[in-house]
Amino acid sequence: MIPVGTLRIGELTAEERAVYSKLIPERIPEHVAIIMDGNGRWAGHQSLKRFVGHQQGAKAVQLVTETASRIGLPWLTLYAFSLENNLRRPRAEVSFLMRLLRTYLESNLQRMMDNNVRMRYIGRIHELPPEVQEKMHWAEEATARNTGTTLTLALNYGGRSELVDAFRGLAAEMQSRNISPARISEEDIHRHLYTAHMPDPDLLIRTSGEMRLSNYLLWQVAYTEIFVTDRLWPDFRGLHLLEAIADFQRRERRYGGLGEGCGEVEEDPERIKIVAS
Ligand code: FPP
Repeated sequence: MIPVGTLRIGELTAEERAVYSKLIPERIPEHVAIIMDGNGRWAGHQSLKRFVGHQQGAKAVQLVTETASRIGLPWLTLYAFSLENNLRRPRAEVSFLMRLLRTYLESNLQRMMDNNVRMRYIGRIHELPPEVQEKMHWAEEATARNTGTTLTLALNYGGRSELVDAFRGLAAEMQSRNISPARISEEDIHRHLYTAHMPDPDLLIRTSGEMRLSNYLLWQVAYTEIFVTDRLWPDFRGLHLLEAIADFQRRERRYGGLGEGCGEVEEDPERIKIVAS
């Protein structure tokens, strides 16, 4: 959990401070993942072209990241471009999103430095256009020594393909070290995921009201709390991140165990007669 001393709440807006002041500092999640959805609908509602929605969506990315950094959130992972987006969207939209990403990295680098944000990526990055990869590595290098929020963009990412990549890596390791399949553990699979270096998300937020995981972080969300809002991504702000965290803090995480109000435990289970139904 985050030491209270690292918080920079003075920089929050008045509305954000009002929500933040009611949070329990020791229970700020370590990792929040977000499925950013609704750019197209946001544009459609205003009779604008889809690309304007993506542009506003990119602004929301920066604003939400800055709030995350101000409250000392260690990990923020955003679903920015899925494998399915890459395969199923019109080429013109895919190429616009690639250009937007390059421009975003270039024009926001200083703000990331000012906010102590470190950039990372997950996904099949090597399949992205070389000029995009170049800009991504540039931003990653430039921010590598920042110690605040790690902003991970999932790009050309799919949860199932991540598992395929992990199993390939693990199988190769097993073969080279002559390890028996019976010895494979969850930890071994975790070590081969793109996210091996980070904790699993505590909280997954999805905007625009859809109740789906959309192939996002399938292994990692096993015990993650899910928060769905009808708000469309271009309208999502740091305030809404804080509201989602407040909702998260009202929940009881049980990881398959028992919680309060779950009924009395029988001390001597052998005494209980099981009646066939
Ligand atoms: C969903 O909107 C969003 C995406 C395709 C991915 C998110 C992309 C951005 C926020 C913009 C670029 C980000 C960066 C970091 C530069 P949608 O098009 O699926 O919306 P719809 O379901 O309403 O059509």
